[in-house]
Amino acid sequence: MGKLITLVLAALIAVVPTAAGAQAKRLVDCATARCVALTFDDGPSKYTGKLLDLLDEAGAKGTFFVVGQNTARYPEVLKRMVAEGHELGSHTQNHANLTRLSAEKAFKEIMGPMADLQAAGAAVTLMRPPYGATNSTVGRAAKRAGLAQILWTVDPEDWRVRDSAVVARRVLAHTQRGSIVLVHDIHPTTVAAMPKVIAELKRRGYELVTVSELLGDRIKPGVRLP
Ligand code: NI
Repeated sequence: MGKLITLVLAALIAVVPTAAGAQAKRLVDCATARCVALTFDDGPSKYTGKLLDLLDEAGAKGTFFVVGQNTARYPEVLKRMVAEGHELGSHTQNHANLTRLSAEKAFKEIMGPMADLQAAGAAVTLMRPPYGATNSTVGRAAKRAGLAQILWTVDPEDWRVRDSAVVARRVLAHTQRGSIVLVHDIHPTTVAAMPKVIAELKRRGYELVTVSELLGDRIKPGVRLP
């Protein structure tokens, strides 16, 4: 009998995902679920760890468009993002307006954070052009980098207001199924707005997913979404 139980346990353990497997496909299908993607730009920063705590407590996933100037300073934060199922994308090395650069310089800017992201174990398929500034040259540079260009549909201008209540109110007023919400994890006011935002979106029945979970196979190198 003891041996049988051991065998059954061994079989169970074999199919239970390991910690590393936590990054594997989740059981969320945005064709049926009411999905929303929260995206966090310009970090990582000293506030990002707190944000990761909040997301983790809520079982929410986010997408982080990080700047190369910051990625080298926070390798452990990047690893934690990957381990906890968040998505990472390039937001360039220096937060450059890519439309003002040559094709070669735009490509180098886009590639800036990539080594740090790959060192953290991230599989990167997304970039976000700073200021949302893009054109056909930027599109070709993103394609060469193998990354889709991801813009947004909800922008509370959290960098401007720096008021948690206003940020939360604006996000909640405009977010609907399929929204891609742009906020910044370099502002403590934005991180402080997230408990309310996350709790209320969940109460409304939304699944907080990564951009790749939301957009699925629409993500292709060079394409601009949404
Ligand atoms: Ni930015």
